[in-house]
Amino acid sequence: MNEPLVIGIETSCDETGVGIVRGTTLLADEVATSVDEHVRFGGVVPEVASRAHLEAMVPTIERACAKAKVRLSEVDAIAVTSGPGLAGALLVGVSSAKALAVGLNKPIYGVNHLAAHVCVDQLEHGYLDQPSVALLVSGGHSSLLMVPDISGQIIPLGQTIDDAAGEAFDKVARVLGLPFPGGPYIDQAAKNGNPDAINFPRGLTSAKDLTKHRFDVSFSGLKTAVARWVELETQKGNQVMVNDVAASFQEAVVDVLLRKAIDACLTNEVSTLVIGGGVAANSRLRSVASDRCAEHKIKLRIPRPGLCTDNGAMVAALGSELVRQGKAPSPIEFGTDSALDVRTVVEQ
Ligand code: KG4
Ligand code: ZN
Repeated sequence: MNEPLVIGIETSCDETGVGIVRGTTLLADEVATSVDEHVRFGGVVPEVASRAHLEAMVPTIERACAKAKVRLSEVDAIAVTSGPGLAGALLVGVSSAKALAVGLNKPIYGVNHLAAHVCVDQLEHGYLDQPSVALLVSGGHSSLLMVPDISGQIIPLGQTIDDAAGEAFDKVARVLGLPFPGGPYIDQAAKNGNPDAINFPRGLTSAKDLTKHRFDVSFSGLKTAVARWVELETQKGNQVMVNDVAASFQEAVVDVLLRKAIDACLTNEVSTLVIGGGVAANSRLRSVASDRCAEHKIKLRIPRPGLCTDNGAMVAALGSELVRQGKAPSPIEFGTDSALDVRTVVEQ
């Protein structure tokens, strides 16, 4: 058995994730979330998240080892998210991972959370095609990326110029009185709604916008349009049809994201689209992506929903890929970087 056994630790936001992989085989993916502690604030409270990571770290590592039926001493390498994310939360993961690396005398890789969201698909669908176009849609980021090599070369094509896609889901959910984090609740409500009920704006899709922002997205105008619509209906004394608003909003997000992603594939003559990040768990995004990619003969790869939201397996997957490609480990003194650029796949 030559494939490397890699443990991955993820603490960039409110999920303490510990994953263990051998090569591209997933052995364990344990996640402890502090989301319940943030619900009443309507968003993640950094200090609360950091403390929760501290409490969950050792038990989550132990659970992952038990599930994978491995001892820590058998691990060949350690991978940990070094950024982007919440500074205090990242520090807990990086400090824990460094302690393991020093204690076990094993190499450590400080890796990019965003690259890990893309790389996790290798655990489900095998090695990524080179190049692939990646649509990365999470709570903190929305980008279109050209990915010639996930272990070292990622080229941004475009990104959000204001809110991230997940952030828009969370804010609109709040307007509709749905719980935090809003994405899964909107997804659910939209199943009973009419996506054509309201024609919400599709940001940065006009001919004028496309010249400057062809592969960029914008959700701030959409979010405001939803808020204004809800306010007007309420003023008129009408009952707000939450399911229809959710479905129409979701349709606008999905439509724009996929128009841009497919344009990026066709323009760059890339035949594989991989979608990652928490919003990739969205059922409507998955089904429309599947239809539109089939129409344009683009191979679509989306990991199963559980691997789209933050987890440790994605970090282990990227660590394993770095080992496979013979990349040098990170120096032990590497730091955390809450604004780490997607082009830095691994700390050097
Ligand atoms: O990747 P992720 O778990 O954390 C970050 O790196 O940000 O993404 C979290 C985001 C949240 O905004 C959440 O509302 C959204 O992903 N999300 C969804 C769904 N599940 C999670 N958005 C739409 N539909 C979903 N089913
Ligand atoms: Zn994430």
